[in-house]
Amino acid sequence: MKTNRSKVASAKFFTKLGYSTCWEDPYILKSALAVTHRDSVLSITSGGDLSIGLLLDNPIHVVSIDLNTVQNFLLELKLACFRGLEHPEMLSFLGVHPSNDRLRLYEKIESHLTPSARNYWFQHRASIENGVLLQGKQDHYFFHFGKLLRILCGPQKVEALLNHTALFSQRHFYDHVWNSRRWRWIFDIFFSRLIMSRYMDSSHFRLIKDIRFGPLIRKQVDHVLRNLPIWENYFVHWVLTRSYPGGSCMPPYLQENNFETIRSRVDHITIVNEEIETFINRHDRWTFSKFNLSNIFDWFDDDSFIAILQEISKKARPNARLCYYNLLHHRVIPDTLTAFKRKYNFAMKLLQQNRAMGYTNFELYEVNPDSMRRTMLEDE
Ligand SMILES: C[S@@+](CC[C@H](N)C(=O)[O-])C[C@H]1O[C@@H](n2cnc3c(N)ncnc32)[C@H](O)[C@@H]1O
Repeated sequence: MKTNRSKVASAKFFTKLGYSTCWEDPYILKSALAVTHRDSVLSITSGGDLSIGLLLDNPIHVVSIDLNTVQNFLLELKLACFRGLEHPEMLSFLGVHPSNDRLRLYEKIESHLTPSARNYWFQHRASIENGVLLQGKQDHYFFHFGKLLRILCGPQKVEALLNHTALFSQRHFYDHVWNSRRWRWIFDIFFSRLIMSRYMDSSHFRLIKDIRFGPLIRKQVDHVLRNLPIWENYFVHWVLTRSYPGGSCMPPYLQENNFETIRSRVDHITIVNEEIETFINRHDRWTFSKFNLSNIFDWFDDDSFIAILQEISKKARPNARLCYYNLLHHRVIPDTLTAFKRKYNFAMKLLQQNRAMGYTNFELYEVNPDSMRRTMLEDE
């Protein structure tokens, strides 16, 4: 069987902590996949937030996979918090609240980690001491942007943006105060191909042709700042304040009212250190019914994209669902793969509600392996 190796597996970015939080909206994922107690989910780990959050819908099983073992060490650490800490301790330990006590809290949960994760965190004690949620490379990139905005636009203006509690005043503020030439200028430079490639990794963007990144990403960001309630948008708060306001304005896995439910289900997650391409190739038929694929296809060339979808279509359960984002490089599953039925209207509606700014596309498909097999037989 042909093995499709990921083209980014060897990029330096993927050997370090890239994402300490997930920059994808869990409410979009919940609506798109509609996970129930009958589902087995394959989910990209990234910061771990979404894989953990999926437990709230009580699936039989979540397999959380990442080619970057460091991302999975982070997921282990987050899961260990549920096993060994109380809720306020978890928020302090991870870095949502200030604390001088993180290494002591770490001792309480260390025994819940695998030896390799323990070894990694032993070598990265400073990351724990400084609050692990604040350490991802992408998170740093956003924090730099937040800091720059405070310096160039003024802290009062940033506070004023965050303090809105009604949509009409937020929109008025956005139109008449926020959306200035200066904002557009700062944004387009900070999110240009040049700066993003230097800070993230040029392999992230190798498939994107000659377009200006800034204005395209800004269009989506402007929609969020103008049309979606800022007082519920923990992503905006994270960038601008390096923290979450609390209550329900934080990722669901960190919310107090979800703590005990998640704690009782942490054993439903299995962590896999592998490229999804190889994992899917060697896995059994009919295993997964839901697929949360982050924006991994941004890095797949056409052949690898088709190859993995063909494998998924053989291994998905009937009526499975699969979703993914695209930053700038739109990947649509070709009609020739008849196992996949595109849910375009619903996906576009969800994209409009996406509080995690920046993605220009979201795709949702229903997967029915039988139809693909039938077409292949007809073709023969
Ligand atoms: C696609 S990245 C994007 C992160 C996301 N947009 C966010 O900010 O939350 C998420 C994770 O996918 C992992 N990844 C990328 N390609 C993969 C592959 N082929 N197999 C498994 N994991 C992959 C990366 O290591 C990374 O941790």
